[in-house]
Amino acid sequence: MDYNGLLKQAQDVSKNAYAKYSDFLVGACVLGSSGKIYPGCNVENASYGLTVCAERNAIANAVANGEKSILALAIYSPNMKDCTPCGACRQVISEFQGEKEVEVITQTQDGYKIYKISELLPNKFKL
Ligand code: THU
Repeated sequence: MDYNGLLKQAQDVSKNAYAKYSDFLVGACVLGSSGKIYPGCNVENASYGLTVCAERNAIANAVANGEKSILALAIYSPNMKDCTPCGACRQVISEFQGEKEVEVITQTQDGYKIYKISELLPNKFKL
């Protein structure tokens, strides 16, 4: 799978990040199991702890549009290469695992890197 297009959309949505406290812009794009794509960006708040990461907003967008599982999630930040998801987002990404392992895509100097979610979050909490 060529993830350049998914990363490009993550880059586009990073421009909408509401990051007035950290100036750290992040865009994420989910590829749902249906093949549709859902963007999200980080949304910060004056009450810092209410900030929501780009990854979780993209997943919420996918779920609100009827996706039950996800195939991949691309992350882009103009502030950092190889921007991997925070611990909370890793748990949320793993919640939407379908038949195949979710692939997490990050931007590198000359292309992209693919992580399996189980590599980023081994022994996830599950009920
Ligand atoms: N952030 C994300 O949106 N995703 C990440 O993977 C790491 C961190 C956001 C949260 C906050 O708005 C800013 O980046 C700095 O932590």
